[in-house]
Amino acid sequence: MEIMGRGFKQIMHESPMYFHMGLKYAGYKLFNKKSPFFGSADIINVCNLHCKHCYWWLNRKENEDLTVEQWKKVIDEKFKKQHVFIVFLVGGEPMMRPEVVELFVNEFPKRVCVVTNGTYPLPKFKNLYFYWVSIDGTQKIHDDIRGKGTWEQIRKNVINYVETNGKKASKDIWISMTINSLNYKTVKDVMEEWRDYTHKFGIQFHTPFMKGDPLWLPFGKERNRLVDELIEMRQNGYKDYLSNPQNQLELMKGGWGGKGTTPIDCPTWAIVSVDHMGREKMPCCIGSADKDSMKPRCGECGLGCYSFLMSYGIKGSGMISN
Ligand SMILES: C[S@@+](CC[C@H](N)C(=O)[O-])C[C@H]1O[C@@H](n2cnc3c(N)ncnc32)[C@H](O)[C@@H]1O
Ligand code: SF4
Ligand code: SF4
Repeated sequence: MEIMGRGFKQIMHESPMYFHMGLKYAGYKLFNKKSPFFGSADIINVCNLHCKHCYWWLNRKENEDLTVEQWKKVIDEKFKKQHVFIVFLVGGEPMMRPEVVELFVNEFPKRVCVVTNGTYPLPKFKNLYFYWVSIDGTQKIHDDIRGKGTWEQIRKNVINYVETNGKKASKDIWISMTINSLNYKTVKDVMEEWRDYTHKFGIQFHTPFMKGDPLWLPFGKERNRLVDELIEMRQNGYKDYLSNPQNQLELMKGGWGGKGTTPIDCPTWAIVSVDHMGREKMPCCIGSADKDSMKPRCGECGLGCYSFLMSYGIKGSGMISN
């Protein structure tokens, strides 16, 4: 038995945690009590790449970062107090701060996912849940979006990880693809190229910060066709590899989160997200702690983590349409 990469033994071991999760879910369903299930932390405000589609560069300002000791405080105050189950480490590039990754992994064994551009060597952390490695196309298209030579470097790091860490090491590597107007025709090829070395493959869609963003894949025929193909693949041998449930894929055909830059149905409360200084970001993990920053467009949002929760009936930002 395996659920989202977690085996039977692990599930048994974590049963107290599921109790908390169950209480949260029941509290939400019965009393509309909103307590976060997940956490996300930008553990660094630096990145070695400058990808064409990246939201993080849009609002990046100061050069400061927190020390390991300061992150420990944020962990206690923001994540442990609220009993979050899984924490996603983001940035910038989180693998530029392996000492902070190590702290999180020790604090949340088997409950930390590191979202990485994969260009740094991937160390084996005994208690990591998994690496979400971002791949944005077949080699040429990925390099066009993320920088020349990056695909080759990631390929080397992933294969090296799998070959040096034993038979089950590929379980630690999941691929995350952010689909946009440049790469949407390569999704099936990307899945084929990485399947032998990785455990799961998840997609999300590019979320724009401005109207008319040419990277956004418009709602309509081509987007629907791609989603339908993915659903068909799930039904024909890819169910264990493609991590997005069918309901979520259906949701991502159109607008599901909100209107303009206002979240409406999006369950913003379900993920507590902090920036590189440990400040809470609004309205969501791609937002900012600074209220004057550029805002993501909820009406055209394609983010995976929030639409995933919504596909399980968890929704409602608490804000109303303006
Ligand atoms: C900001 S990056 C940080 C982690 C790491 N540097 C990486 O690239 O994986 C986190 C994820 O957000 C995705 N992303 C960046 N800009 C996006 C956007 N505008 N809409 C949706 N996803 C985006 C990236 O492709 C990546 O998978
Ligand atoms: S590697 Fe990640 S954080 Fe860096 S620019 Fe690309 S998407 Fe953004
Ligand atoms: S995740 Fe939610 S709050 Fe963030 S841009 Fe998407 S719809 Fe808006």
